[in-house]
Amino acid sequence: MRYAIGIDIGTSGTKTVLFDEEGKVIASATAEYPMYQPKNGYAEQDPADWYNAAVSTIKTVLEKSGIANTNIVGIGLSGQMHGLVMLDENCEVIRRSIIWCDQRTAREVEEMNSKLGREKLIEITANPALTGWTAAKILWVRNNEPENYAKCRHILLPKDYVRYKLTGEFATEVSDASGMQLLDVPHRCWSKEVCDALDIDMSMLAKVYESCEVTGKITAKAAELTGLAEGTIVVGGAGDNAAAAVGTGVVSDGKAFTTIGTSGVVFAHTSKVSIDPNGRVHTCCAAVPGEWHIMGVTQGAGLSLKWFRDNFCQAEKDTAKLMGVDEYYLMDKEAETVPIGANRLIYLPYLMGERTPHLDPDARGMFFGLSAIHTKKDMLRAVMEGVAYSLRDCVEICRGMGINVSDMMACGGGGTSHLWRQMLADLYACPVKTVSSKEGPALGAAILVLVGAGVYGSVQEACEKIVGISKIQKPVKENISVYEKYFRLYDEIYPAVKDKCAKLAKL
Ligand code: XUL
Repeated sequence: MRYAIGIDIGTSGTKTVLFDEEGKVIASATAEYPMYQPKNGYAEQDPADWYNAAVSTIKTVLEKSGIANTNIVGIGLSGQMHGLVMLDENCEVIRRSIIWCDQRTAREVEEMNSKLGREKLIEITANPALTGWTAAKILWVRNNEPENYAKCRHILLPKDYVRYKLTGEFATEVSDASGMQLLDVPHRCWSKEVCDALDIDMSMLAKVYESCEVTGKITAKAAELTGLAEGTIVVGGAGDNAAAAVGTGVVSDGKAFTTIGTSGVVFAHTSKVSIDPNGRVHTCCAAVPGEWHIMGVTQGAGLSLKWFRDNFCQAEKDTAKLMGVDEYYLMDKEAETVPIGANRLIYLPYLMGERTPHLDPDARGMFFGLSAIHTKKDMLRAVMEGVAYSLRDCVEICRGMGINVSDMMACGGGGTSHLWRQMLADLYACPVKTVSSKEGPALGAAILVLVGAGVYGSVQEACEKIVGISKIQKPVKENISVYEKYFRLYDEIYPAVKDKCAKLAKL
């Protein structure tokens, strides 16, 4: 039997999973790390935390599994997209990484539009200038920390920094590189036109590969630290969403998934480049060679529930500990006792600004309709419903672009919640399925290894053999019309307060 390791460098932690060639989990390990928010709207992480987490979790899975490292055919990396890692001439990290949910770059987005023009940017990068994407962050550092920018020699994405530490190679792959806004997405290569217009030296950018290509090999030093065999191959891997697509079998037209992790994403595969002229959903290269995907992103999905848990649910945390169950399981049970609509309470999940559909870094979260009858349980349910409404917004745009999203999978931490999946099924008015493996991005990264190492002939073939459906949740007819009324009202709230959010940001 041959084995592959998938490593998912997420926002709350890194998860490393060792799979056999049939996709069965042999061992897994997770290591958490902090996110720093030095100011409202800022979000940073320390790249050393990602690498240390990768090293410790690789070591743990190898030890737990007892499998000889020579039977591991390769490593696949997946991870949070868009984060900016800058290295100096000695390949040392210059400053903390500014990560995907950071919203400090409104001025730089304007700069990009004025230097290139909004239409040209969309034509080349398949997306409008976005505050959370890497190019705007690079310009922010140049505008605000010129001494740091002057030292910069290499620009990497989060998972590609870990790759550099493991292999010594400066490499990336098309799916994650699409989220830097420097890639010519239709042609799958760096855009000289964009880099020249923004005055970004292309020699700082990593070499671009397809996701299942071999990008480097484990160095002697990394082998010593992790227990891997020196020379083990590392394939391109994919941004977390593109990797989750592979791990859930969303690798051909008509297939889609919703993930509720820190962010929430509605993702649909497309064999042709398909671009929303209004830029409300992103278009990126898929991990499947020569194909693409579109995705709508809610900034604060699981993040909203985690925020609620950490600030208001100490009692649930204590009880869960005593009962030996997950605290989110208890919160789910509480939310289930509240009727649809949370007794007329609506939550907008814009804690970190919003992308789809508003593209507004100044948007902020709110509870609408709070009354003295409401309890914590109502607020909890409202938070879950608000996230589901925001994901429905993403589905509406995909459907408006003529992309079929009715073969829908659910994944991510939130996708394990029966209640959240039912909300999605009712709001999307289509069945929502789960796959038998819970490991979405890590499994996707491992599948890319198995393809890169020649165990399978293509990503589609590997997915057919490895990814199985577990549960199907159908929409409940009576729920659909009730949710629909709340969703319509939800959609009216943000436009009514948009200018107030902008004022608040300026106070
Ligand atoms: C996608 C996005 C997030 C991050 C974090 O555009 O920003 O999904 O990849 O998981």
